[in-house]
Amino acid sequence: MHHFLLLFLIFLLPHETSYYAAAASGGGDLCSRRCGGTTVPYPFGFSPGCPIALSCDASTSTPILPYIDIGDNGTMHRVIAFNSTSSTMVVNLPPSCSRSVPEARRELSGGNYGVSSRTGLFLRGGCSGINASAGAGCSVPVDVMSRLLRTAHCAANSNGTSASTVVCDASAAGNATAYQFLRWEKLEKQKCDDVLTSTVFVLTAEWAPTLEFGVAELGWWLNGTCGTGGGERCAANAMCTDVETPSGELGHRCGCVAGMEGDGSSAGDGCYLGES
Ligand SMILES: *[C@@H]1O[C@H](CO)[C@@H](O)[C@H](O)[C@H]1NC(C)=O
Ligand SMILES: *[C@@H]1O[C@H](CO)[C@@H](O)[C@H](O)[C@H]1NC(C)=O
Ligand SMILES: *[C@@H]1O[C@H](CO)[C@@H](O)[C@H](O)[C@H]1NC(C)=O
Ligand SMILES: *[C@@H]1O[C@H](CO)[C@@H](O)[C@H](O)[C@H]1NC(C)=O
Ligand SMILES: *[C@@H]1O[C@H](CO)[C@@H](O)[C@H](O)[C@H]1NC(C)=O
Ligand SMILES: *[C@@H]1O[C@H](CO)[C@@H](O)[C@H](O)[C@H]1NC(C)=O
Repeated sequence: MHHFLLLFLIFLLPHETSYYAAAASGGGDLCSRRCGGTTVPYPFGFSPGCPIALSCDASTSTPILPYIDIGDNGTMHRVIAFNSTSSTMVVNLPPSCSRSVPEARRELSGGNYGVSSRTGLFLRGGCSGINASAGAGCSVPVDVMSRLLRTAHCAANSNGTSASTVVCDASAAGNATAYQFLRWEKLEKQKCDDVLTSTVFVLTAEWAPTLEFGVAELGWWLNGTCGTGGGERCAANAMCTDVETPSGELGHRCGCVAGMEGDGSSAGDGCYLGES
C-alpha cells in the first residue's frame, strides 16, 4: 500500500504552473485536469476536451471512473494512483458478492482503458467451467479470504456450494507477455457467479504478505499508432510505444525516459527533470 499512497500524494501536489502552461499553449480543446485539490496526468481530465474523461468527487478531490448507472448496486471506482511511466492507474474494487463477471468487465473497461494483466481476480460461486486438472490459479491465506468473504457478506449459493469456494485467476501474473491486458474471455469461460475482489501483483509475482486486496490496475492508451501521427501528440522528448488494446486495435502511449518525470504528452506536462 505504501507506494500507492506515496504516488497518490505526489499527484496531489498542485501542478498549477504546468496546468496553465498547457492551457495557454492552445491547439485544440482545453482539458481541465483539476478535481478539487488534485491534478490528474494528461490524457485524463474532467472536461469534454480531455481524451479520457473521469468524474470528480469534488468534496474529497477524488477522481472516479465514469459511473455507469446499471448493474452492481452503484459501486464507484475511485482512482487511487496514476503511474504515467507505465500508463497505469490503480482503482478500488471493494469485495462484493453480487458483481457478475460481465458487470466487472463493463465497469472497469472504457474506450481508452482496460484491466491490466497484472491484476488477479477472485471469482466465486458456481464456477462450473473450471478445469481442475489445469491446476489451481493461486492460493490465498485462509484468514485473509474468510475476512474478505465476511466483509462482502457472501451467502452460500442456491445449490449449497460453500460460500468460501473461491477461484483465483492469476494466469498472467507469472508471465509477462507482450499483451498487457486481462483476458476476460478466459475468465468468462469459468462460469463463476461473481467477482469477489481483485489484487495487483507486484513485479516479483510472489504472494507477498503485503499483497493488497480490493484494488485493480488498469492500463490506458491513446487511439492511433505512433506511425500514423499519434506520436505527434507525445512530447518531443518522450517515447511513443504502440500497444495492443483489448479490442485488438493498436493504440499508443507516450512515456518519459528514465530519469524524467511527467505524462509525456505535448498537451499535458511533457517530460521534465525531477526535483530530487
Ligand atoms: C444489489 O444487491 C443485492 C443484494 O446484495 C442483490 O440481490 C441485487 O441483485 C443487486 N442488484 C444489482 C443490480 O446488482
Ligand atoms: C511506475 O511504473 C514504472 C514502470 O513500470 C515503475 O518502474 C515505477 O516504479 C512505477 N512507479 C511507482 C511510484 O510505482
Ligand atoms: C478511441 O477509440 C474508441 C473506439 O475504438 C472510442 O470508443 C474512444 O472514444 C476513442 N477515444 C478517443 C479519445 O477518441
Ligand atoms: C453445485 O454446483 C457445483 C458447481 O457448479 C457443481 O459442481 C455441483 O454438481 C452442483 N451440485 C448440485 C447438487 O447441483
Ligand atoms: C483441462 O486441462 C488439461 C490440462 O491442461 C487439458 O489437457 C484438458 O484438455 C482440459 N480440459 C478441458 C475440458 O478444457
Ligand atoms: C511465457 O509465455 C510465452 C508465450 O506464451 C511462453 O513461450 C513461455 O514459455 C512462458 N514462460 C513461462 C515461464 O511460463
